[in-house]
Amino acid sequence: MQTTTTISLAREAIARARDSRKTIAFIPTMGFLHEGHLSLIDTAREAGAEFIVVSIFVNPKQFGANEDFARYPRDEARDQELLTGKDVDLLFLPSVGIMYPPGSQTTVSAGAVAMPLEGERRPGHFDGVATVVMKLFNIVQPDLAVFGRKDAQQCAVIDRMVGDLDVPVRLIFAETAREHDGLALSSRNSYLSPDERRLAPALYRALRAGEEAVIRGIRDVSAIETLMRKMIEKRPGIEIDYLTVVDPETFLPPADLRRDLLLVGAVRIGRTRLIDNIRIARA
Ligand code: PAJ
Repeated sequence: MQTTTTISLAREAIARARDSRKTIAFIPTMGFLHEGHLSLIDTAREAGAEFIVVSIFVNPKQFGANEDFARYPRDEARDQELLTGKDVDLLFLPSVGIMYPPGSQTTVSAGAVAMPLEGERRPGHFDGVATVVMKLFNIVQPDLAVFGRKDAQQCAVIDRMVGDLDVPVRLIFAETAREHDGLALSSRNSYLSPDERRLAPALYRALRAGEEAVIRGIRDVSAIETLMRKMIEKRPGIEIDYLTVVDPETFLPPADLRRDLLLVGAVRIGRTRLIDNIRIARA
């Protein structure tokens, strides 16, 4: 695996792959890699990738002033080893100065889909995500790019951006990789103490209960929300940020419960904020 920290060397390596007509796949990450990230590499290969580019960049623009940018977990050496084991072709590892040199000032503004839920609680977050992903797309110019459904609203924001700005890339959204007890894999799980870790699967269990209720035929959003909330509220130490049912395209309350639905939640356990979701697809 080749590793580069500069845009020009990344472009050169990718140009060689493009010259030999290889299908170029891109997987952007913030590092501290886990099996969820690695599963995106498998998804890329299954989709026909012949040259796989992974980026690791903890993007300051998508963190709020009171968020965890400074303490976000980092382990470059371990990440490099994991990616080598997955036969990744190029690791792009830019610094903040390379991505946002002095004078840089243009950003992407995500649309309405970025406003509710995560967007409401993390003002500016999705503009930061859209800006860095657009820049990375312009650097790598991949044929396809893979994102995880664990960050469902991020997927919707990127999907709109690619459509609205005519970005020539095929997007693939991969299923959420989970621990045995259902907890969605996340770099932020490393913040959890053993006691907090035991509480963490409650979010997924609540979403599953909501899913079962929908499948049983319950058609009342507030009844589903109450049922999900009860499963978390009975546990001290875990606090609901939001736990709701939305339309998976708009992230607004669903107009029709017989259509595709997304059950989404965010909780706080101590200082750690966790998100998860389950999509219910209808024929
Ligand atoms: P990060 O949180 O590192 O995630 C990188 C990619 O891995 C995202 O597409 C995310 O949805 C996916 N991912 C994370 N956990 C997953 C899991 N348990 N199962 C499957 N996929 C999972 O998301 C970001 O970084 C950043 O916002 C980024 C897109 C890189 C822009 O900075």
